[in-house]
Amino acid sequence: MGSEWIPPEVDSTRPSVARVYDYLLGGDHNFASDRDLATALLRVEPQARELAQANRAFLLRAVRAIAGTGVDQFVDVGSGIPTQGTVHEVARSVNPDAKVVYVDNDDVAVAHSRTILAGDDRAVVLQADMRRPEDILADPALKGLLDLSRPVAFLLVAALHLVKDEEDPAAIVAALRDAAAPGSHLVISHLTHEAEPGKTAAIGKLYDRASSPAVSRSHAEILRFFDGWDLLDPGLVYVPQWRPDEGGAVADPERFLVFGGVGRR
Ligand SMILES: C[S@@+](CC[C@H](N)C(=O)[O-])C[C@H]1O[C@@H](n2cnc3c(N)ncnc32)[C@H](O)[C@@H]1O
Repeated sequence: MGSEWIPPEVDSTRPSVARVYDYLLGGDHNFASDRDLATALLRVEPQARELAQANRAFLLRAVRAIAGTGVDQFVDVGSGIPTQGTVHEVARSVNPDAKVVYVDNDDVAVAHSRTILAGDDRAVVLQADMRRPEDILADPALKGLLDLSRPVAFLLVAALHLVKDEEDPAAIVAALRDAAAPGSHLVISHLTHEAEPGKTAAIGKLYDRASSPAVSRSHAEILRFFDGWDLLDPGLVYVPQWRPDEGGAVADPERFLVFGGVGRR
């Protein structure tokens, strides 16, 4: 593999949540600082790789289900470093014309997404901060590709727990909701301390030295992000419990530490 995925401005010394997640998923787009944090994380949570995979699998099941209702526009906020099974591939396996806007603030995530999407005129990546949703919604690249008067799916998967309370994560979701035409969808997955408060507190401490914090929230707090949306079956559940594929049910879903849900406008 070449080094074209390493943008010149990248800070390789501070662990990046995008690159730690890439490492957990078996990717190659990470540095020693990321692997050190991932190693520490694996000591606190030996199942961290399985958690990352379950979260990613939830995202792709949700995209497939939403595309199956006819939605063909997706905005993936905090999209990460592209890995096997991307949102545009999965959405287009259902709706061949599906358009996707990826949004991330991480240099490597954006550079690698640009490489993957080169020559694709129905998918773009924006380097933007989700804490400024109005900038994302007003971006000419988004407005040029998507028609927000039609249904769109906003994906905030393993993203809102990277936003502190004082940065007002509810305002992010509210801005997206206000921009969403009837028939639009919202997908959220989020770290929770409901089952293992000690473990999630230790994870939060570890992420203090990363590019974004890891803020776990309660079921009720995460549910409030769906204000103004109708929560689809089976509700806000541990990610493996959200419409599992055949054979995908697990006996002890609470060990996955991440809730997921899908709302419809
Ligand atoms: C854990 S990854 C999740 C990737 C993907 N959504 C998934 O669930 O497979 C979180 C992503 O959010 C991005 N991120 C963190 N803070 C952000 C911010 N303020 N604005 C935009 N992206 C952000 C990180 O760079 C990272 O790529």
